Amino acid sequence: MDLSDLDPDPVIALRSWLEEAAGASPQPDAMTLATTTRNGRPSVRVVLLRGLDERGIVFFTNLRSRKGRELAENPHAAAVLHWWQLGRQVRVEGTVEGVAREESEAYWATRPRASRIAAWASPQSEPLTDRAALERLYARADTRFENGEVPLPEFWGGLRIVPELFEFWTHRDDRLHDRIRYLRDGTGWRRERLAP
Ligand SMILES: Cc1cc2nc3c(=O)[nH]c(=O)nc-3n(C[C@H](O)[C@H](O)[C@H](O)COP(=O)(O)O)c2cc1C
Repeated sequence: MDLSDLDPDPVIALRSWLEEAAGASPQPDAMTLATTTRNGRPSVRVVLLRGLDERGIVFFTNLRSRKGRELAENPHAAAVLHWWQLGRQVRVEGTVEGVAREESEAYWATRPRASRIAAWASPQSEPLTDRAALERLYARADTRFENGEVPLPEFWGGLRIVPELFEFWTHRDDRLHDRIRYLRDGTGWRRERLAP
């Protein structure tokens, strides 16, 4: 991989890799997301990449979850997408901001009813006494909304990683992998090759 193989705009380059991954990976948009507490203790989990444009990368979650609380304390995140079938990974780092309510509403509307009810029912990241407790919470939410629409909860929505750094990595023989890093430079991006 050379600089000329990647679009100078990392968003376009990532979009193109995601399209290729869609033909190779069963879950091409699974992204491992790292957050930290105020004191810098990290935690990671997988979320789905649900939006990508010049503003950044969007995922949706419960804003009171562990990740939501950590991002409220420290709005910096790092994420990685890995497609082993293609021998590729992409890293991204940046600050995190909430998306406009209308954007969350639009995504919410695409979610199956059962997922919307589950989002209401589940106090994500909180301890539960047992599985039955979760099922009771679901049944209660199901009854609550049985006669109408399931609205977007105020505690649920989209978060956007506003990127400052991308890194595109490809596997090469003899561990001589290719790494191209993009760093934000004013309104554009500057690129450099890193040692593998
Ligand atoms: C493939 C995959 C996709 C997932 N997508 C999401 C997602 O888009 N949003 C989300 O909140 N959790 C998603 N999860 C669940 C999270 O990994 C995690 O369990 C949950 O968000 C709670 O994380 P937290 O306690 O660190 O906040 C996904 C899990 C997997 C394995």
